[in-house]
Amino acid sequence: MSHKVAVYRKEHFNAAHRLHSKLLSDEQNALTFGKCNYANYHGHNYEVIVKVTGEVDEITGFVMDTKLLSDLIRTQVVERFDHKNLNLDTEEFKNLNPTAENIAIVIYQLLRPNINKQHDLKITLYETERNFVEFPC
Ligand code: NI
Repeated sequence: MSHKVAVYRKEHFNAAHRLHSKLLSDEQNALTFGKCNYANYHGHNYEVIVKVTGEVDEITGFVMDTKLLSDLIRTQVVERFDHKNLNLDTEEFKNLNPTAENIAIVIYQLLRPNINKQHDLKITLYETERNFVEFPC
């Protein structure tokens, strides 16, 4: 019998961003991104929920040690983005619009190589209490 379990770890970071596409006019950018297009940036309190799914190890009883998962999110994600201006201060978003969608994909790409290949990984990212995204879905 399969003993697949999902393990979750929630972490938090604050970051500033501006949503803007070089492919759109200033007017189209303002219409598309609203307040998130303001030229002088603004902040969000991001909540990231990382879900790791896999078989429970017979010896440890873990899918993944949550201490290791916490350390991984801290070193790969929180220390990289916390209190940063995503557009100006990070390599990842120099040429990538820092929407919640793109941030979730980037977080996935940062974590995936560090997690057991046999485990599934899913990222949920809250940009506000009411707006959140999931990748992959
Ligand atoms: Ni915003």
